[in-house]
Amino acid sequence: MGEADRLIIFDTTLRDGEQSPGASMTREEKIRIAKGLERLNVDVFEAGFPAASQGDFESVRAVAETIKGSRVCGLARAREADIRTAGEALAQAQAARIHTFIATSPIHMQNKLHMQPDEVVEAAGKAVKLARQLCDDVEFSPEDAGRSEHDFLCRIIEAAIDAGAGTINIPDTVGYNVPEQFGGLIGTLLERIPNADKAVFSVHCHNDLGLAVANSLAAVRAGARQVECTINGLGERAGNASLEEVVMAVRTRQDVFGCDTQINTREIVPVSKLVANITGFHVQPNKAIVGVNAFAHESGIHQDGVLKHRETYEIMRAEDVGWHTNRMVLGKHSGRNAFRSRLEELDIVIDSEEQLNEAFARFKSLADKKHEIFDEDLQALVTEAGAAL
Ligand code: KIV
Ligand code: ZN
Repeated sequence: MGEADRLIIFDTTLRDGEQSPGASMTREEKIRIAKGLERLNVDVFEAGFPAASQGDFESVRAVAETIKGSRVCGLARAREADIRTAGEALAQAQAARIHTFIATSPIHMQNKLHMQPDEVVEAAGKAVKLARQLCDDVEFSPEDAGRSEHDFLCRIIEAAIDAGAGTINIPDTVGYNVPEQFGGLIGTLLERIPNADKAVFSVHCHNDLGLAVANSLAAVRAGARQVECTINGLGERAGNASLEEVVMAVRTRQDVFGCDTQINTREIVPVSKLVANITGFHVQPNKAIVGVNAFAHESGIHQDGVLKHRETYEIMRAEDVGWHTNRMVLGKHSGRNAFRSRLEELDIVIDSEEQLNEAFARFKSLADKKHEIFDEDLQALVTEAGAAL
């Protein structure tokens, strides 16, 4: 994989993910997740917002001291005090990044910052310059870029790159964009900003309309080479783009995206479970990649197909993302083939085709009453079938 084909994964579970109401984490919990992110081999992760609280400062510092295999990032508003605090928290990191941001949409500049556009550009330039004095790797985000004017974005980004930002992150802060539009924005910025080739363009998409992953992938197709995401899609309000979906989309469809990540995908499910257990935010069963049903087949037609050739109904291997195996769930839609195959796996002996037929009929009738038939039910069904014949 050449540099141009590499998609950088920037995880923000410990910062934006922690902003999910109810998901706050202790320092020890953050360190456990940080170690999981390191095992996943994420390129960069945001450990917190050091100026937000003393606890956040200490967590970022502890993570920065512990982690050696990934770059550790701290968030800072475009203010001197925030940036110095982030620099201090990251001082012991083997590889550090300061991520500074300021809002650029008219609604944020007028109603939140009460600043004129010229003042915002000046603040961004100063913030990046100061951050560069403290850290050789600086990322700049024009917050609410998804609702900002394109001319103004071009202007502020050009200034941030001139001031030394190596990564320009384009956030769709309120999840307002749709894929074609967001991909178009990235294409426009890359084309119009004269020094765009001096920085890596990144995206940070929120999921308010359920489009965070689709918008991120549209941006990758348009030339973005870093995606910001979180484990299980955790994050402010409806969350951020989910890491597992972005990583497996580009891995599975390299023909479409032409790039890949260096994520150790076999760690995806273990880290997803770790984050769910620590935060108490459990993953919905039908969630792509990490939901318990993501590799489970119930319908007889699908089970029969998968037993004959896995790729009939699977586009990824469960083992490649850290599941033990795919699963055949025995329920009312299951067919004889899956039923027989499970009996064989469990070494349950069937004496005749007649006994199999009788056991299968009993199984169907039980399945009408129960959502799922467990292995313990099967031996009883077969014994009763034998006795009835
Ligand atoms: O959503 C957002 O705009 C952010 C920024 C701080 C990057 O989280
Ligand atoms: Zn965000």
